[in-house]
Amino acid sequence: MISVAIDGPAGAGKSTIARAVAQKLGYLYVDTGALYRAIGLYARRQGADPAQGEQVCPLLPQIQLSLRYVDGVQHVTLNGEDVSEDIRLPEMSSAASQVSAIPQVRDFLFDLQQNLAQEHNVVMDGRDIGTVVLPQAQVKIYLTATPQERARRRHLELLGKGIDQSYDQVLQDVLQRDYNDSHRAVAPLKQAQDAVCIDTTGLDFEQSLQTVYQHILSRQAQV
Ligand code: DC
Repeated sequence: MISVAIDGPAGAGKSTIARAVAQKLGYLYVDTGALYRAIGLYARRQGADPAQGEQVCPLLPQIQLSLRYVDGVQHVTLNGEDVSEDIRLPEMSSAASQVSAIPQVRDFLFDLQQNLAQEHNVVMDGRDIGTVVLPQAQVKIYLTATPQERARRRHLELLGKGIDQSYDQVLQDVLQRDYNDSHRAVAPLKQAQDAVCIDTTGLDFEQSLQTVYQHILSRQAQV
């Protein structure tokens, strides 16, 4: 099986590019952030503080997560309920970031992610795919852009969904998440030694997609 690992900070365009490149390659696209979001959602719904391991860990045995694909689009099922829309609410970003710092949460999701890569050719995006989940991935990409550019994109995306948050608020959230994701003790966001860094600041979607796609093709030709 072939695995393409795409890591990077929030708002770098990972999911849009990973999904499009997976489609071009005919691989399964796995958005691992959605799994952390689903756990954050469950914690919130149960009245637990997503930042507190001692409140979140006892809930883990109650959680059944699975991924389904409808017309190539990933859907997350939480205890039988499709939560794909609920996990995209802005408050779920920080809940996901908080639960993702809990080692037991990362362990809980580890097998699910590895099993997918054992059974399918995948393009998997996240924060620790190239470093921890799939260190053997044949292609590793670290996709990034400046915080200001990432906040600008996220702001536009939220506006498109009718969610009215100021640019400054979005930028603050981006910076806070960058800090949380890269400073946590377990599996912090960082570029794998053997990953190529692609900075999409100043590139539009099509240019970013082509850069990523060409890199994957050239890596595949080498392995
Ligand atoms: O990619 P995203 O914004 O949907 O991810 C939500 C949060 O989940 C992010 O702030 C960090 C965490 N995450 C992680 O720790 N490891 C991953 N592989 C994917 C996401």
